[in-house]
Amino acid sequence: MCGIVGYTGKNSALAPVLEGLRRLEYRGYDSAGIALTVAVGQQLWVEKRAGKLGNLEETLEDGTPDSHSGIGHTRWATHGGPTDTNAHPHLDNEGKLALIHNGIIENYVELRAELERRGHIFKSETDTESVVHLLSDARKAHHGDLAAAMREVCAELRGSFTLLAIHSDQPDHIVGARRNSPLVVGVGNGENFLASDVAAFIAHTKRALELGQDEVVDISPTEIIITDLQGNVLPHHEYEISWDASAAERGGYAHFMLKEIYEQPKAILDTLIGRLHGLGAEISQNIDFGKIDKVVIIACGTAFHAGLVGKYAIEQWGGISVEVEYASEYRYREPRVDGHTLVIPISQSGETMDTLMAMRYAKENGAQVFSVCNTNGSTIPRESDAVLYTHAGPEIAVASTKAFATQLIAMYLIGLHLGQIRGTITSEFIAEMAEHLEALPAKVEQVLETVEPLRELTRQFKDSSSMLFLGRHVGYPTALEGALKLKELAYMHAEGFPGGELKHGPIALIDQGTPVVAMIPAEGSLLAEKMASNVQEVKARGAVVIAISDWHVPAASHVVRIPSTHPFLQPVLSVVPLQVIAYEMAIARGNDVDQPRNLAKSVTVE
Ligand code: M6R
Repeated sequence: MCGIVGYTGKNSALAPVLEGLRRLEYRGYDSAGIALTVAVGQQLWVEKRAGKLGNLEETLEDGTPDSHSGIGHTRWATHGGPTDTNAHPHLDNEGKLALIHNGIIENYVELRAELERRGHIFKSETDTESVVHLLSDARKAHHGDLAAAMREVCAELRGSFTLLAIHSDQPDHIVGARRNSPLVVGVGNGENFLASDVAAFIAHTKRALELGQDEVVDISPTEIIITDLQGNVLPHHEYEISWDASAAERGGYAHFMLKEIYEQPKAILDTLIGRLHGLGAEISQNIDFGKIDKVVIIACGTAFHAGLVGKYAIEQWGGISVEVEYASEYRYREPRVDGHTLVIPISQSGETMDTLMAMRYAKENGAQVFSVCNTNGSTIPRESDAVLYTHAGPEIAVASTKAFATQLIAMYLIGLHLGQIRGTITSEFIAEMAEHLEALPAKVEQVLETVEPLRELTRQFKDSSSMLFLGRHVGYPTALEGALKLKELAYMHAEGFPGGELKHGPIALIDQGTPVVAMIPAEGSLLAEKMASNVQEVKARGAVVIAISDWHVPAASHVVRIPSTHPFLQPVLSVVPLQVIAYEMAIARGNDVDQPRNLAKSVTVE
């Protein structure tokens, strides 16, 4: 969703602000803007445009002031359409105070009514503009102290926000605040940064500071002051970012998504390293596994599909009941949760609001929370009792690929860990699974080496109106993931079904030439036979069937061969061709691969 960048320091601000916005483009947005300080007391310089960053950059060709402090924003429209006027930054009526915002201000209607009554003139339809007028009044009341004004305003706001503000009277200061929305400080040498994501400043510094809930930060080129809403100065928690700028660049690939598909062997290896012989030290100290009688996995989108696969592994190996729920639905049915429930939120970004709110509900009701996350220091792991970080590295493309692969690995590791401590699996079984897991990176590599013909085959279906995906057991969540990927990237109707469910209705969708992708388990297994029958059923009705399997599946029209593995691990291999199908289809249909329409990478609203 919205991207936020602030720079103050020894260099000209425009370049790092624009570069930061470029690096945050992956989050998805529909307008962009920047504000720069010019001189003490003078009006700020502001440009904002609907559409992509290129539109904004065109307006900058006529020149920008030499400024050493500025803020930039990419907006994903919520309140008010994606227009120049609704784009951020928003200004106070004197044009000296500028504000950018990520999140939603829930009480903006009443705030706006009150502010209009006080004489403030509004220009946009946004919820954000109320905050800039409120801040303007508060700043005057605090004799020009912007940080004190921000503290007062935050206390009046309901909802979620990351806010950054600059005022021309303190041209080298940027004041930020956060609640339920990410904000990190980049610590430089004679320069400092604020951003919604470390990717924005990673090319300049790897030193970062975490900001907690309801904290306000005031940065200048040489100073960083963090306070709570009461004005108490708080200590800094600095950490080193473990990846470098090249990890967030395309590195010769046509798209981030393609790069990330090819990074999967390494990501899987990084997630496995040091964990094959137990997760003990990493997680046990804050979780009382002996107390657990139920596991609940909460997640959204692709992470939800990883959770569905996880259910098979954790239930079977850990000998414990597992429920998997859409995070966005979870708390609204007021589920029964207590200290015997282990809740596992899965999230690449660690900022997904649906998942965060579901997790908070569970915590408030006494659950133990053990998150699976890819983003160090993000809100979900910070609020969990323990965390298993997937080490996929930064995932830039909106469509999740390597994050999914590593979430699957996390599910298997948790299943084995629970089985080990609950005594439901033998040490021989654990050793056997460790071997299977260790072999996965090389097997994914093998799949990647053979996908070229699949890309060609995919293009044949470019004009199809629909594509169906079938699977059973762990192949069913894989089918769901294949369908989600295709919807996101190809803007094509796609659905995943359990193979056995077809005859109960969906088979009516099959027509002459309908492409169907089927996940087929290892030859000789009962489920392989059942799936082969399902393939026959759709083929008899005109479908063109692409089977993904480790054997030749005679009934299929085309077979994408993948290496053999343990049946529970097959999704790690079979999802790769599904990612390739979606990628290729997006290109064939002329779609934006890395930033599909209407989607955002990190969904920070409910
Ligand atoms: O950051 P999260 O893993 O919490 O995100 C959850 C979903 O929004 C995400 O997986 C989404 O479905 C992806 N765009 C799928 O490719």
